[in-house]
Amino acid sequence: KNIKGKIEFKNVDFTYSGSLNPVLKNISFVCNPGEMLAIVGSTGSGKTSLINLIPRFYDVTSGELKIDEINVNMMNLKELRDIIAIVPQKTMLFSGNILENIKWGNENASVEEVQDAAKIAQAHEFIMSFPEKYTTQLGQGGVNLSGGQKQRISLARALLKKPKILILDDSTSAVDMTTEGKIRRGLKLYLKNTTCIFIAQRITTIREANRIIVLDNGMISAIGTHEELMKNSDIYKDIYYS
Ligand code: GTP
Ligand code: MG
Repeated sequence: KNIKGKIEFKNVDFTYSGSLNPVLKNISFVCNPGEMLAIVGSTGSGKTSLINLIPRFYDVTSGELKIDEINVNMMNLKELRDIIAIVPQKTMLFSGNILENIKWGNENASVEEVQDAAKIAQAHEFIMSFPEKYTTQLGQGGVNLSGGQKQRISLARALLKKPKILILDDSTSAVDMTTEGKIRRGLKLYLKNTTCIFIAQRITTIREANRIIVLDNGMISAIGTHEELMKNSDIYKDIYYS
């Protein structure tokens, strides 16, 4: 289907069931097709909660969330999730080999596609350095990957899906800055027609975004480019100078 990947939040509130206080309050913004949007904010400000609404891991409590003008509640859940790939904050790999882990959810992908995704995720090189390469076992009885290596496998898995909407939740936090820079440059080319929302802590990564949302205590405190926020947002300046 011809999905462009526009995302729109309209006065969205969200409260986890069983809890009293909303974690997201009156969230409104539009993320245009192909745009790279960053979300920043202190721990507990609601970043993960916000992005988890997009594939409907949770439903909005009030307000509207639309993709290409269609309310996500009206979309078929499988179709919705087929166009979205999320690299979660906590990497989820299983016992099995590296190839199986990258192909999880995209079992029909070719070797070339897997390797392309792994190259952009800056995982191909370290995978090839293992004696068993892509058939290296992970988990029990297998190799222990570093946190940054796990994140890169997880990113390769998401890229292999060739999503219309890619969501990265602090997905390169454990990757060194040089490697992160390479990933960023690769992603820019690879994601030409992909809408990308990412949560990040490092200013070098954040400032690459077309626009940045500053989340504070469940509310949007500011939204704009790096330059605009440096002028207008004290919270953003604090992040920059920290
Ligand atoms: P960091 O990942 O630490 O940077 O924080 P974040 O900005 O991603 O915040 P997150 O969305 O995870 O949490 C926002 C608020 O929601 C916090 O007060 C959390 O305690 C709360 N919260 C997160 N997950 C759950 C959940 O599954 N159930 C409930 N009841 N509360 C949650
Ligand atoms: Mg989070």
